[in-house]
Amino acid sequence: MTNHSSKILVINGSYRVDGITDQAVDVAIKTLEELGSEVESVFLREYKIEFCFNCRECTQQPGDMPRECVQHDGMQKLIEKIEQADGYILASPTNFGSVTAIFKRFMERLIVYAYWPWENNFPEFRKANTPRKKALLISSSAAPGIFGRWRYSTISQLKTAAQTIGADSSGTLFTGLIGRDPGPQLPRKVEAKARILAAKLLNP
Ligand SMILES: Cc1cc2nc3c(=O)[nH]c(=O)nc-3n(C[C@H](O)[C@H](O)[C@H](O)COP(=O)(O)O)c2cc1C
Repeated sequence: MTNHSSKILVINGSYRVDGITDQAVDVAIKTLEELGSEVESVFLREYKIEFCFNCRECTQQPGDMPRECVQHDGMQKLIEKIEQADGYILASPTNFGSVTAIFKRFMERLIVYAYWPWENNFPEFRKANTPRKKALLISSSAAPGIFGRWRYSTISQLKTAAQTIGADSSGTLFTGLIGRDPGPQLPRKVEAKARILAAKLLNP
């Protein structure tokens, strides 16, 4: 993605306004905007989407494009935004070793990106062979970062979400040790890394 006038979509699964996730994402957004990108943020905490029904109606027809869900809620609009974006920031804190429930709810609705007829045991991902986009993955935990990256599923879940929508990771930002303060501030070192990784999203 060498074109700096790219459209970047941020999908933020944090519950906390101005928490560590919001702060890390804000630094990345500022850098992307300085480099000429158009950035749109979706806060899942404010977004009206329902749980997947597991009905698999959306998975029965082949094709590269996501199919329509039987539920008519905010997800259709969000899929349009995903399709129109050139790259992504996917962000979620670690709760009980994984992405937040609101991020997982969003992820399950990404089943529209799978072709999975009833006679097949496994889904095929519609975007598996399409040109790849890039995604910056952002997470955090109360545990030390090195432990969080190694032990928790958060980053691999964010990666799965990215791959499902046709993107590979351009980098991961994981902030540890942020659980001892009710109003944690993004450490300077992490801020600097967020800037570097945001630039790398445009020029991997
Ligand atoms: C319900 C809940 C579960 C959590 N589970 C974990 C966990 O399993 N491991 C961990 O290191 N931190 C855990 N934490 C700490 C969060 O990861 C930390 O508060 C979060 O990264 C902050 O992100 P935010 O500022 O965007 O809310 C948990 C916090 C809450 C409230």
